[in-house]
Amino acid sequence: MTKNMPLPSAGMRHVTLRQLRTFEAVARLRSFTRAAQEQHVTQPTVSKQIRLLQEAVGLPLIEQIGKRISLTEAGEALYAACTHWLEGWSRFEQTVSELKGVKRGRLRIASVTTTTHFMPRVLGPFCAQYPGIDVALEVVNRDRVLERLAHNQDDLYVMGVPPDDLNIVCTPFLENHLVILAASNHPLARQRNIPLTGLAGQSFVLRERGSGTRLTVERVFRERQVSLDVRMELGSNEAVKQAVAGGLGLGILSRSTLSADPSQEGIAILDVQGFPIRRHWYLVWPRGKQLSVVAKTFLDFLQTRRDWLETSAH
Ligand code: PGA
Repeated sequence: MTKNMPLPSAGMRHVTLRQLRTFEAVARLRSFTRAAQEQHVTQPTVSKQIRLLQEAVGLPLIEQIGKRISLTEAGEALYAACTHWLEGWSRFEQTVSELKGVKRGRLRIASVTTTTHFMPRVLGPFCAQYPGIDVALEVVNRDRVLERLAHNQDDLYVMGVPPDDLNIVCTPFLENHLVILAASNHPLARQRNIPLTGLAGQSFVLRERGSGTRLTVERVFRERQVSLDVRMELGSNEAVKQAVAGGLGLGILSRSTLSADPSQEGIAILDVQGFPIRRHWYLVWPRGKQLSVVAKTFLDFLQTRRDWLETSAH
């Protein structure tokens, strides 16, 4: 060590894993309340852990102005370090479980909104088979999943449109068909083999920008040079379905959002040329990421159950 370099505070030796976990959650979520919810503790407990950590480090880490939380320079440095430490630590915990012959630990998955229609049915049997693994499923739209991927916040990511500008591994695991919908009593519901250009004058109710469904719809219409008149955009598949059934316009959604008989929901799947668009759901992770034991267990589980998945998820 250089002669005049100040020594780190002696209290640093007393920093605990719990304090670091709490700090990482506050720094990532920028909220004491949400960190407390995530960690299943009270807000005063979070505040106390952060106070003890700041005392040990000997510098402020977090600044709060009104409701806004920001990190100091030391806070930013600690946040960067924490992300690596905690990932390494959870790998270590899982290695220990593996050495003990137990599949145990937490599987963190960030999954796009549309997957709520089948992910619980996939996770149910997985959790039943591996009771020692608990799953934290974060369901957000595609843009938010990509943000989480960029910050390496989860073990695995599920989406229908993986980005082509990131260095990632993508494994298709389930078919995902995009269909065009109308109210059951819409005149187009009785027509067959409708050309896409025949929909040019129709109004559409679509998912919000930032969703994978919306991205695909816009790409398809652009590629086929058909104009798309968006009357309304809604943040959930269920809301789009209700709007379509209510006659507000045509909709485009993944087939997995509909029941086996959509006419029961007041909805018809239109027979449009080039539809359904046949796509896949992908499991995605950054190339080079060392997958945890539980993540690998989940991948193996999906690979060995492909047939079951196709029948149970649709
Ligand atoms: P979304 O994603 O739920 O964000 O629309 C669906 C998809 O990627 O196909």
